[in-house]
Amino acid sequence: MTSRILILDCGSQFTQLIARRVRDAHVYCEIHPPDRTLEWIRGWRPTGIILSGGPSSVSDANAPGFDPGILDLAPVLGVCYGMQWIARYAGARVAGGGRREYGRAEAVVREADGLWKGFDVGERTQVWMSHGDHVEEVPPGYVLTASSEANPVVGFRHADKPIHAIQFHAEVAHTVRGADIIGNFLFDVCKAVPDWTPGSFIEQEVEKIRSTAGGAHVICGLSGGVDSSVAAALVHRAIGDQLTCIFVDTGLLRLNEREQVERTFRQHMGVRLVTIRAEERFLSALAGVDDPEQKRRIIGHTFIDVFEEAAEREGKAAGFLVQGTLYPDVIESVSPKGGPSATIKTHHNVGGLKPGMKFKLIEPLRELFKDEVRNVGRLLGLPEEMVGRHPFPGPGLAIRVLGAVDEAALATLRRADAIYLEEIRAAGLYDDIWQAFAVFLPVKSVGVMGDGRTYEHVIALRAVTSSDGMTADWYAFPPDVLGRISSRIINEVPGVNRVVYDVSSKPPAPIEWE
Ligand code: XMP
Repeated sequence: MTSRILILDCGSQFTQLIARRVRDAHVYCEIHPPDRTLEWIRGWRPTGIILSGGPSSVSDANAPGFDPGILDLAPVLGVCYGMQWIARYAGARVAGGGRREYGRAEAVVREADGLWKGFDVGERTQVWMSHGDHVEEVPPGYVLTASSEANPVVGFRHADKPIHAIQFHAEVAHTVRGADIIGNFLFDVCKAVPDWTPGSFIEQEVEKIRSTAGGAHVICGLSGGVDSSVAAALVHRAIGDQLTCIFVDTGLLRLNEREQVERTFRQHMGVRLVTIRAEERFLSALAGVDDPEQKRRIIGHTFIDVFEEAAEREGKAAGFLVQGTLYPDVIESVSPKGGPSATIKTHHNVGGLKPGMKFKLIEPLRELFKDEVRNVGRLLGLPEEMVGRHPFPGPGLAIRVLGAVDEAALATLRRADAIYLEEIRAAGLYDDIWQAFAVFLPVKSVGVMGDGRTYEHVIALRAVTSSDGMTADWYAFPPDVLGRISSRIINEVPGVNRVVYDVSSKPPAPIEWE
């Protein structure tokens, strides 16, 4: 590996997107907490260092800080909080309030060089902002490179040293030329060599899995979704028959899903697969529980109990458990690298793990996004019907029956969801949509059917487009398709007299309703 980018994470929800953009440019990178010592960083041998954004103000008592020695160690790019830290360290004022910007903004290029190579001076380009504080002036010894309507200083660089900073998030898709700006940092400023590929990821992970597992037995919790299938394939490549896959029917699966998963898995993977029927157990543990976080915890803990018992039966207790945890699961549950990010919700396979469980975890996809995982799956030879599936959450239909979960609600939801997906496939729209599903609402509404009054349940439909699950927009169905779906659900699913369509984007509304 010739080039290595070190990303120091101050807790931004977007830090992994920085890593993702660097990987997309075929350069190796790692994310580490901001308080790494200068000695440690020197030993890591960075070709360049990126300081991420974060929720703190640089003047907060416990605000994350870096060893200023990094500014002389390698080229540095400060993003948002990273920029504000550089500004304050270099003697400029950073203030709160007044000039906040959230979402779309226009940056005006002031210098068409360095980060802005390939732009024109005076050019306006759409960028994505998310900051409460702002930099008041260009620090002494630095040169202005960009500004916006609300803020005179949205980009600067050091006059002589390779230190660059931007207030906006070049790493998010809505910053139209973000990839050019990051590319300029990597190749123009850092002179990085683009020789890192998804194939290198596979080799690197296979090595890591082999050395982690040693000769121990490994169990993989398979859900049939893309992530756990790719994780299983990767671990299988690394350690072959040391791996046993366990597929649990939680009673929270979609219509005929167990049969489908078993069939595709046996057809395409030479892996040992054990199915466990635990419908009773999950549903009784969930009975009467309506709090979404508690539901997730119960499901996470029951999963681990079931895996531990299965491993014991297989004579493979106290080994490793493989999970297909992805980056968006991690960032919404805990701060992944020790940085100070906020908890949005507990994904069952991350924050919802049981304390004191016997397994040690192997999570080879923990730093990837869904579309990267799909590419890894394709490179590993998995068929499109496995890698192209819409995501399905670990807690399954339990987080799509809002409130307390029972068999009747699940049965209604399964039928509505199956019709929804069948019609989407029939209309040829499945691959245009990131994820589509029905939600069972715990409310009833009045209807009239065959001249009689009804008082029945409402089903909500959600369909979103997205590139990585981090941000999403509602999908604009052709009205005739939506109409057909709605009348089929109302006609064919007993107990439903109304269908509504969710037109919320993420943020603020996550993809799932709970
Ligand atoms: P949200 O709802 O956070 O979802 O916008 C982003 C993606 O993650 C999936 N998701 C989950 N996956 N355990 C999982 O394994 C969970 O608890 C969970 N919650 C959401 C969701 O389906 C979407 O693809």
